[in-house]
Amino acid sequence: CGIIGYIGDRPACEVIVKGLKRLEYRGYDSAGIVTEDGGRLYIRKGAGRIDDLTEKLGFLEMPGKRGIGHTRWATHGIPNDINAHPQTDCTGRIALVHNGIIENYRELREELLRRGHHFDSDTDTEVIAHLIEEELKSSGSFEEAMRRALLRLKGSFALGIVYTGEPDRLYFVRNESPLVLGIGDGENFAASDVPAFLEYTNRVVFLDDREYAIITRNSWTVKSLDSGKIVEKTVQEVEWTLEMAEKAGYPHFMLKEIHEQPRAIRDAIHGNAGIIRSVAEEIAKYDRVFIVAMGTSYHAGLVAKYLFQRLAKKVPIVEDASEFRYEFEELVDGNTLVIAITQSGETADTLAAMKLARRKGAKVLAIVNVVGSMATRIADFTLYTHAGPEIGVAATKTYTTQLTVLTMLAIELARVLGTADQGYLDELEAELSAVPELVERALRHEASLRELAEELKDKRDFFYIGRGISVPTALEGALKLKEISYIHAEGLSAGELKHGPLALLEDGVPVVAIAPSGKTFDKIVSNIEESRARGAFIISIGDREELGRISDVFVQMPEMDELLTPIVYIVPLQILAYHLSVLRGNDPDKPRNLAKSVTVE
Ligand code: G6P
Repeated sequence: CGIIGYIGDRPACEVIVKGLKRLEYRGYDSAGIVTEDGGRLYIRKGAGRIDDLTEKLGFLEMPGKRGIGHTRWATHGIPNDINAHPQTDCTGRIALVHNGIIENYRELREELLRRGHHFDSDTDTEVIAHLIEEELKSSGSFEEAMRRALLRLKGSFALGIVYTGEPDRLYFVRNESPLVLGIGDGENFAASDVPAFLEYTNRVVFLDDREYAIITRNSWTVKSLDSGKIVEKTVQEVEWTLEMAEKAGYPHFMLKEIHEQPRAIRDAIHGNAGIIRSVAEEIAKYDRVFIVAMGTSYHAGLVAKYLFQRLAKKVPIVEDASEFRYEFEELVDGNTLVIAITQSGETADTLAAMKLARRKGAKVLAIVNVVGSMATRIADFTLYTHAGPEIGVAATKTYTTQLTVLTMLAIELARVLGTADQGYLDELEAELSAVPELVERALRHEASLRELAEELKDKRDFFYIGRGISVPTALEGALKLKEISYIHAEGLSAGELKHGPLALLEDGVPVVAIAPSGKTFDKIVSNIEESRARGAFIISIGDREELGRISDVFVQMPEMDELLTPIVYIVPLQILAYHLSVLRGNDPDKPRNLAKSVTVE
């Protein structure tokens, strides 16, 4: 979900609607706004997209110069008008919006029902408003009542709260769900993410877990939720311009982000060149290395496994973070290094895995895109991917920059450990710095990939096959297709084809073969042949022209070291998935049922 709050001299509804549009990628099944004017709250909310709701409910006609907006991705209670936020108490004097999940909401709700409270919605959020109302009965101060109520909550929450009894302020609370303040001149903001208010200010204060902020037009204060005492915070300036956070002329964020990859990869290299050595030296000390991540970041972890094995002769255990938490606890100790890969730095399972690792005494390295995100604060040290904001739900530039940083790390680790020929490592490093141009060349296939998408748009199943370091590329290619085109796709090692999936091949089923030159090239050629024999439609991606003879479509890639192919070869697969999505009438930026940051388990 996304939160945006404003207090100042502008019509609050205008700032909030713009902010909500920029936060829509965080959740978009419903939205709502509360503003306050003359001691009265105005609330409008409903299920649907922001644009439609703005028109239908007249968001832009709401009075008042302070207010809070919310865009929702349902966790408790189906997405409908009543469950949309803001939620209010019985008196209608407290309104609040919430991201996250309150784990003990059932007990609290029952207790409040016994005390005579009446609930309108099925949400866990509404419980919070009533709990504050209840505390307010025995407390002279709203702030104290709010704090006492929040101390009873178990779970994750970011909250924005407005109370009619205090006409000059808004409250924002963070616990395991992101929240950042925007500091203006005679106006202040709060949001789940910086682009929501970047048009007005780039001066920000990141809240930490269990902190709350009180913002007025001319002031801001951050306090500890547990002690109620003031916490000293520093104002930081973010470098992202608004233009970077907007579509820059592309029809969708995803396409823009695909095309930004050469720039993003360059930034990832430059941004880390100075510090990669010291991080590699630290990693070299650990025998047991885990890599934890979810989704596309997990695929980056799988690529890293091959890089670490081949170059540094270290075999990391790569686990999806939700599994790691429950299966590997016993193996984690002070001699363990855990590398967490998460573009948002807010994925609940990944954060939980990191916290577990820290608790057990392990060192934690985070590879993150979002500066100041929670992962960076849990980790002992962080490498940033410098991709800039990624708005499309399907990860593209954050993936290739993760791969870039992981490649740099593996090269440097091999240098420190002396596990690979130094001359070769120098060459590989030089070739990595040329990868942005190789990605440019891969992007030039867009027109023909679009045509291919036309031909394939009514297919029901796709298979993506690869070997060695191309197996994760096959998985990621299939994931991109599933996420945004809603076509069933499987990624697998080409060797596994014969052990089951081959039974599914029949005339015209697309098989995408990721087939760079390398030690298993001949093997994948055999797999292409066996698929062809079953009538499959072969799309091969590689650098060897002979692939053209055995494929229905051959996407030619430039030559490069096999270890760099994951960064470049995923690009045509991203483009293919994008065009299939658009041609099938979907919105690739906002796939159904999915969210950019999964901040709940
Ligand atoms: C969600 C997103 C994916 C992303 C995954 C992990 O599922 O839709 O694109 O790969 O979360 O996110 P993270 O921010 O931890 O990389």
